[in-house]
Amino acid sequence: MKILVWDLPTRLFHWLLAASFAVAYLSAEEANWLAVHVFAGYLMLGLLGFRLVWGFVGGRYARFSSFHFSLREGLGYLKQVFAGTAQRHLGHNPAGSWAVYLLLGLALLAGLSGLVTLAGQEGQGPLAEWVPYGSAKAFKEVHEALVNAMLAMVILHLAGVALESWRHRENLARAMLTGSKEGTPEAAASAKRSFSALLLLAAVAAGGLWYFGSAAVAAREQAAGYKIMRSIDPRETPLRITETPYWKGKHRPIAASVWRSAKVGTRANCVACHQNAEQGIFVASAIPREVAARVSLR
Ligand code: HEC
Repeated sequence: MKILVWDLPTRLFHWLLAASFAVAYLSAEEANWLAVHVFAGYLMLGLLGFRLVWGFVGGRYARFSSFHFSLREGLGYLKQVFAGTAQRHLGHNPAGSWAVYLLLGLALLAGLSGLVTLAGQEGQGPLAEWVPYGSAKAFKEVHEALVNAMLAMVILHLAGVALESWRHRENLARAMLTGSKEGTPEAAASAKRSFSALLLLAAVAAGGLWYFGSAAVAAREQAAGYKIMRSIDPRETPLRITETPYWKGKHRPIAASVWRSAKVGTRANCVACHQNAEQGIFVASAIPREVAARVSLR
């Protein structure tokens, strides 16, 4: 008969985590989508916080105690999978357990390194006061490496799910959607605490939204002047804005020929590209499309 294996909070967590990772990944390259990227990151961290708690108080198969296997068991299971002798597990199998722990760990590290990068590069988020601009680049590389490692794990996880589904003739992806699998009644998980867990999950999402919203409207963090000022080494006092690390960093991709062109002439001619420079608006999205195309950034 069909019995409940993955309780509702675990399933919601699973698909929300997958969605937020996908959104964060796809919005990473485009400067104008930074807000989307950052929100997806906050959501991911919030979800992970929930999963840590749920791992101790959650449903039968969601609890960490139901799937702690040694590395040897994990690798041994993997070998059996390839040999076609692996036993079916109702909850996470030994290899799948390792995938879960690695995915959770990598997601956490990716999220945290994202917060550090955000603080260093944009001067935003809870760590803004602590991360100097100069270190942002190094953190960004760490962040990207962690994300790539996570992407590799996601692909392995998908391959594992496909292989196990095929070997045991059961659709594991659908089981994560519906929550139910074929099993005996006494093996079923109870849905008892689902309601309080859903409240917790909603609180996490609401908290993330609220925090993100309040950070997004903090005018100080939006102002170009603030970003430029905090990029300056306190031991130096550049005379020109065009000598500050932040300005240089933002304009490095622009070719020398663009600066020399008749329309620009000098680096100080901010209005040539930033139409609304006089109102103090320098965001990349306020640069006219044809100018952006001409400076060949995208
Ligand atoms: C040749 C065109 C050009 C000129 C001239 C120019 N900029 Fe820019 N600036 C750009 C482009 C293009 C970007 C977007 C880079 C990106 O996509 O992140 C940018 C980005 C910026 C940003 C970062 C905006 C953000 O939030 O990402 C600031 C601040 C800025 N410029 C200030 C200035 C100032 C101040 C001047 C004059 C001293 C100036 N720029 C002159 C083309 C120009």
